[in-house]
Amino acid sequence: MKLSHAFVGLLWVSVARATIVNDILEAIKNAVSCTSCHALLVPLKTLAALGDGPFDNTIIAICKATKLVDADVCEGIIKTQGPIIAHDLRSINPLGQTATKLCDALLGLCQAPTVNKYTVSFPKPPPTNPRKFITSGKTPFQVVHFSDIHIDRQYTTGSETNCTKPICCRNYADQKGPIAVAAAPMGEYKCDTPAGLAQNLLRSISAENRFSIFTGDVIEDESHLLLQVTSANHPMNPQFYYSRSDDSESAPTNDFPRTTTTKNATDMQWVYDTQSAGWTPLVGATAASQVAHYSGSYSIVAPGTNLRIISINTVYWYKVNFWLYDSDAFQADPNGILAFTIQELQAAEDAGQRAWIIAHMPPGRYDAMHDQSNYFDQIVQRYRNTIAGQFYGHSHQDEFMISYSDYKKQTAANAVSIGWIAPSITPRGGNPAFKVYDVDPDTYEIMDAKVYSSDLMNPTHNVQPTWGLYYSARSTYGSLLGGIPATQPLSPAFWHNVTKLFETNDAAFQMYQTFRTRGVSPIICDAKCKAVTICDMRAMRAENGCTVPAPGKYFRRGSEDIDADAPLHVDDCEGVNIGHLLSAVTNGFVRFLPPFQQRD
Ligand SMILES: *[C@@H]1O[C@H](CO)[C@@H](O)[C@H](O)[C@H]1NC(C)=O
Ligand SMILES: *[C@@H]1O[C@H](CO)[C@@H](O)[C@H](O)[C@H]1NC(C)=O
Ligand SMILES: *[C@@H]1O[C@H](CO)[C@@H](O)[C@H](O)[C@H]1NC(C)=O
Repeated sequence: MKLSHAFVGLLWVSVARATIVNDILEAIKNAVSCTSCHALLVPLKTLAALGDGPFDNTIIAICKATKLVDADVCEGIIKTQGPIIAHDLRSINPLGQTATKLCDALLGLCQAPTVNKYTVSFPKPPPTNPRKFITSGKTPFQVVHFSDIHIDRQYTTGSETNCTKPICCRNYADQKGPIAVAAAPMGEYKCDTPAGLAQNLLRSISAENRFSIFTGDVIEDESHLLLQVTSANHPMNPQFYYSRSDDSESAPTNDFPRTTTTKNATDMQWVYDTQSAGWTPLVGATAASQVAHYSGSYSIVAPGTNLRIISINTVYWYKVNFWLYDSDAFQADPNGILAFTIQELQAAEDAGQRAWIIAHMPPGRYDAMHDQSNYFDQIVQRYRNTIAGQFYGHSHQDEFMISYSDYKKQTAANAVSIGWIAPSITPRGGNPAFKVYDVDPDTYEIMDAKVYSSDLMNPTHNVQPTWGLYYSARSTYGSLLGGIPATQPLSPAFWHNVTKLFETNDAAFQMYQTFRTRGVSPIICDAKCKAVTICDMRAMRAENGCTVPAPGKYFRRGSEDIDADAPLHVDDCEGVNIGHLLSAVTNGFVRFLPPFQQRD
């Protein structure tokens, strides 16, 4: 049959290699548990030892033979990420802890190992008499929070929306037959953002807002557009995170090597240098220089305020950054991001400022490294009086996440910090949307979060998007909780009470589920899923979350065969990566593999 030809052509290189490939195919068939995942890494390491070329070609051949995705997708993803995985495998013990973490991130076959105990040290002990920030009831000012804009420069009106590639609504050379579902000019739920929609949104953000925060997912090209449009309107504090690559269509570039990486890795310093230069007019020379020196992180006191905004690069805590698995040596603080966060929070505390932390990936999400999430949470506990809020994106959903002083006793009194997660601009996460916060000018706490969105299903959307108020968190949840006093912010305790409300009031919980995607295909959630969802809301520390990796669940965003028990596993935060391909291969697609024959 056809499939075996793919192997015959590419894999019969030598008897030595044939034996390794045989071992790999056998190990793939058996890869159903954490132990068997480790066993699979053994022959993969042997293959990697032959060099990047043989490694990539073999994995590409397996990928193509399964016909899970188009051949060009196999090539694109594996040529980008295969060499990183091969480098990882050459550098680590396939039976060690880093290998367990790799089996979690790549194949979902292991659980994240228990957190490596590490006590974060601080320059000063917590103040015995911390400065209190008390509201005088002044009128709040407004801040816009938008995220995950994902502009697709190749978006083409009229192209196929229901395509077989990771990103649709583009002209593809191998498009077969007539267009079944033609892409509309202002966006499709299965596609990234057309430039026209992004421009319309940025022009619509009112100049009344004091500033904007942007929590990432752009490509280099987009940053220019954002800078042009937003700096004309009002200053903003961008948090740029180069997590996607425009030209490799399917392969996301979440892959940032650490400073300790020894391989000739693509040096990411150019990214930070470019970013630093581009932002100088926006954030000032000091912050721009921090961008270059702290792997993309910086801090700035928002003009006219007593608020320090600390923008940190969380890509070194991100499970899907495959460079993180290239050493067995324990690293508490890759690239010094934790140290930078401490330095800036201490500076804020010393200066009597409040602080906001902004970043792309919420540090409690299931795709965060448990170690760094734990260490970051220690920082949050230490500076709980200084931090007035945390702001993230990445999930594409409108969500929140709470940090507690005691995760075994999650109560309103123990809730210490709140992470606000912005909905995405890309319609792949639902109707494009952003948040506007009402901020108390004395405490810098959030008095209300209003979500604005434009409904793709509204016939006028494709003529002129309408950014209408979707809901106000204060009026919606506040009234369900029986009303809250006018001067009380939407505090961590308030959000804890919202999670309690969800437990007893299912209609309120289902409304939250609808809000997450701005009303588009709300996530159907039964009692078990609800328990997991509420558990995750209460887990700014990833080890306390309840979403667990499972084999194959990561595969093919947007596909219909989503496991209803774990819808969040279908993760459109990133493109299809090598892990999606391999986890699909190890999870039931094995039957498509040809019988392997030894040739002597
Ligand atoms: C989309 O494509 C899938 C498979 O390629 C097909 O089964 C489905 O009917 C298509 N949907 C539409 C609306 O054309
Ligand atoms: C690393 O890069 C340098 C300069 O580009 C090159 O001379 C060297 O051969 C490379 N080493 C490896 C192991 O690829
Ligand atoms: C949370 O709920 C408790 C119990 O009903 C209540 O005493 C407390 O005031 C609430 N806290 C906030 C911030 O709403």
